[in-house]
Amino acid sequence: SPVTLTLHPSFQVAPVRRRTFGAFVEHLGRCVYTGIFEPDHPSADEDGFRTDVLALTRELGVSSVRYPGGNFVSGYRWEDGVGPVEERPARHDLAWHSTEPNTVGLDEFMAWAGKAEVEPMYAVNLGTRGIEEALDVLQYANAPQGIAYSDQRAENGHAEPYGIRMWCLGNEMDGPWQAGHKTAEEYARIATEAARLMRQEDPDLELIACGSSSSQMETFAAWENTVLTESYDLVDMISAHAYYSEKDGDQASFLASADDMDHFIDSVVATADHVRAKLKRDKRIMISFDEWNIWYQHRAESRPPSGDDWPVAPVLLEDTYSAMDAVVFGNLLISLLRHSDRVASASLAQLVNVIAPIMTAPGGEAWKQTTFHPFALTSRHAAGQVLDVRVTAPSFENTRFGESSAADAVATWDEESGALTVFVVNRGPEGEQALDADLAGFGDLELVEAVTLHHEDPYAANTQDAPETVVPAPNDSVALDGGRLVGALPAISWSMIRLA
Ligand code: AHR
Repeated sequence: SPVTLTLHPSFQVAPVRRRTFGAFVEHLGRCVYTGIFEPDHPSADEDGFRTDVLALTRELGVSSVRYPGGNFVSGYRWEDGVGPVEERPARHDLAWHSTEPNTVGLDEFMAWAGKAEVEPMYAVNLGTRGIEEALDVLQYANAPQGIAYSDQRAENGHAEPYGIRMWCLGNEMDGPWQAGHKTAEEYARIATEAARLMRQEDPDLELIACGSSSSQMETFAAWENTVLTESYDLVDMISAHAYYSEKDGDQASFLASADDMDHFIDSVVATADHVRAKLKRDKRIMISFDEWNIWYQHRAESRPPSGDDWPVAPVLLEDTYSAMDAVVFGNLLISLLRHSDRVASASLAQLVNVIAPIMTAPGGEAWKQTTFHPFALTSRHAAGQVLDVRVTAPSFENTRFGESSAADAVATWDEESGALTVFVVNRGPEGEQALDADLAGFGDLELVEAVTLHHEDPYAANTQDAPETVVPAPNDSVALDGGRLVGALPAISWSMIRLA
């Protein structure tokens, strides 16, 4: 039986949100140093930023960038990263057992964000530090001149406030690995008080409380319940983080990873709405899915240095992504888009070198991983309203979820321009599947393009020497036959079909 998609212009979920296409720059491994910043690189601009990476960031279609961590931020002193560079201290970063030279800090990041044309999202340290330091960095970033921190910013060459809107109240505070890890009750108190005072300083902020580090955390859902019960009126979003990988050769479960993302989002929504009902509030809490990706956490490249070795910008978490990884990744984006009614922001973790779509060689080239492509195409072509697509497809068994649909899809519909874009994965191990969708409800449409990302070897990857091994290619089987969209979806593939 074919993959049948049922869609109609009136099946609207929510507008496509640009913030769905956020990413993340952490002081981790080579994300900052030799990633976005490398003053000796032939492509470096006057501020030391790699212009090849800037160009790829813009091509990727990144909307916002979370900074400066991650686990790093929970031990970070933001003041170390501002002022004259030669006076900035080097420090041990305990999270990644590295030395942080502090050559790049808030002002450099803001300069980079301007050039990359991205909105900044800033995380404060609620691990080793607290409310006072959160207010200090907020004043440094956003206060008009006339007080100590904003005058310091002006002295450092930035007279105008940065106006950063999105602020994360710490990072993964539910995780026992986190510096300053807290119980839900402890975190609920500090996040609420930080939010209250940060709002007094700057009422327009959008504040994000830490949710769970994965749906597998023992405290998941109870954590969200406790944190939101305390902070409901003072925060706008609750975070969710999720990483997926093929484990112990279980390809089928890996291919169905988006089922977990769907379940995770639905459960956070249910928990937030439970608190809403309990507190008798009108406002709805949205989700900031501010870390998501494929991450082979068990591999050696994710192990931080140890002992006396405290390197600056070591090679860490530099996963190489396969064609199959890109298909699962494209499916995660489908899940995020499908939930645009409640996922108000998302950040791909991370942007450069560290579990990243963009890789760089120090002093050398930058290239695109397989995952670059579904992100760039989805960001470029998702427009207008997200449409709920009902998928009928064969199912496949897997140990993690039991039964999963062999296909998944979402669509966007831009009524003004008349553009309909369908994103669909064949994630079943059964082989090629026929596609069939009735598009009569959209009136007269023509096929603009159909591209598919697929490789006969699902483990084929892009490397520095062969960066074009896995790229999207035209899918000539896709055609519009009357009002019916038909075609063939190869096994383990991600496709985008554009009509107008
Ligand atoms: O993105 C890598 C790490 O994953 C982040 O530092 C942390 O927040 C998460 O556990």
